[in-house]
Amino acid sequence: MSETPAASQPLRDRKRPVAPVLFPEPPKPGWRDIIAFFNRARRNLLTAFGELPYTQPIVRRSLLGTPIWIVSDPEAVKRILLDNVANYPKGGQQQRRLKPAVGDGLLTAGGESWRWQRRTTAPAFQHKKIVAFAPAMTAAAEEMLKAWDGDDAAERDIAPEMMRLTYDVLSRTVFGAGTRTDPKKMGEAFELYFDTVGRLDLAAFLNLPEWVPTLGRLRARPALRYFHGEIGRIVAERRALLARDASAAPEDLLTMLLTATDPEDGRPMNDRQVIDNVITFIGAGHETTANALCWTLYLLSEYPWADERVQSELRSVLGGRTATAEDVGRLTYTRQVLEEAMRLYPPAPFLGREAAATDELGGHPVKPGTQLLVSPWILHRHRALWDEPELFDPERFAPGKREAIHRFAYIPFGAGPRICIGMAFAMQEAVLLLATMLQRYRFTVVSPEKIDPHASITLRPRGGMTMRLERRG
Ligand code: HEM
Repeated sequence: MSETPAASQPLRDRKRPVAPVLFPEPPKPGWRDIIAFFNRARRNLLTAFGELPYTQPIVRRSLLGTPIWIVSDPEAVKRILLDNVANYPKGGQQQRRLKPAVGDGLLTAGGESWRWQRRTTAPAFQHKKIVAFAPAMTAAAEEMLKAWDGDDAAERDIAPEMMRLTYDVLSRTVFGAGTRTDPKKMGEAFELYFDTVGRLDLAAFLNLPEWVPTLGRLRARPALRYFHGEIGRIVAERRALLARDASAAPEDLLTMLLTATDPEDGRPMNDRQVIDNVITFIGAGHETTANALCWTLYLLSEYPWADERVQSELRSVLGGRTATAEDVGRLTYTRQVLEEAMRLYPPAPFLGREAAATDELGGHPVKPGTQLLVSPWILHRHRALWDEPELFDPERFAPGKREAIHRFAYIPFGAGPRICIGMAFAMQEAVLLLATMLQRYRFTVVSPEKIDPHASITLRPRGGMTMRLERRG
């Protein structure tokens, strides 16, 4: 009996771990050597902490007198993100790096301001609203494929392509069609912003005031000016249209933000809050999803048996037609591959919190001011939490199996009340874009040995990801 290529794939290949990331031990004399640590962390945060956090539930260090803990005990993670969440506000330097762009939007706000915004924006992310965005998502992918079809470049760096694609999806779903903005310039402004302010920054760590002109801040200024100006204009135009003729306004996230009212007190958002949240949705939703797509395509190229199985699912569920929102639940294996890709390469690799008052985590007393790093990257590769963590195995997420995973051991979208508000949007988007791209093209990484995961705020392939694209027959 002849076997399919997937089934005949030697067990050796199925058991081949993903490319290792090297974990040199922290520079001597350890964490006190601040310059060496920051240099290493700026180069790549993934390798800054040595190997210990991947084997220990909690690693406690201190930097310039500030306790910094890396927490990978799922019960302690649960206490930080859920059970005692009020004691662990977002804090520290990650917030300080994001605030200049996203202001006091949902991602960075705290306390009552966050609670109010979350209540008010939640209806925009309801299931039926997200389902209605499916055609815009596949249309963006189709448009990209049309451009690829008309240009015979066999090799492309798909990292910027995925960034453009997810930016296009957001601009169609946030601003809707018909809003005049230059997608290339806007995309570049966001990229510049994340490239500069997104890096680990000593100024932010030391909590230097905003007016201190660090190199990163100076480089980011034109990007900040550009997108505040553009988005301010778009918001003003839409507000004017809503006042003239509300029925003429597109049903996109911007209209939802401008017309949303607090379900408890009926208060709407002011322009500043709408602008901050538009920038937040694009900032939080574009690079993360692009990276999820990039890493999924990379793994499918590295493990052809998984690609073969995705193909057979796409053939049987879609039979060549465009995927719809209803198909997302049927493309179970494609989704499993995506979830396994976000385990191995979580698009948001580090979440930061700061203890407000004393507490206890994993039996250790926590002092106020302690910085807590909850890292999806470390948790998802922790030796005590996963069988063979470096093995690519989408079966971990098969129905009936994924229930065995501790809820706080797998957190690509965070957890607790501050869980990603765009999670369902992103999952639907990623499955639809993958289905659209993979039906048309086979993607093969040109130099797999050069692929280098790199963490700033998101987890990107440093130097890009050049792939050979072949049209499927
Ligand atoms: C694969 C794609 C995505 C990943 C992996 C991701 C990941 C995350 C994570 C880990 C958090 C929690 C951060 C923390 O607790 O410190 C978060 C929050 C957030 N995300 Fe996403 N995200 C994705 C896509 C999106 C999209 C598409 C949007 C919007 C359209 C979005 C909007 C937000 C917002 C507004 C928050 C803050 C929520 C709050 O604090 O209430 N994200 N995301």
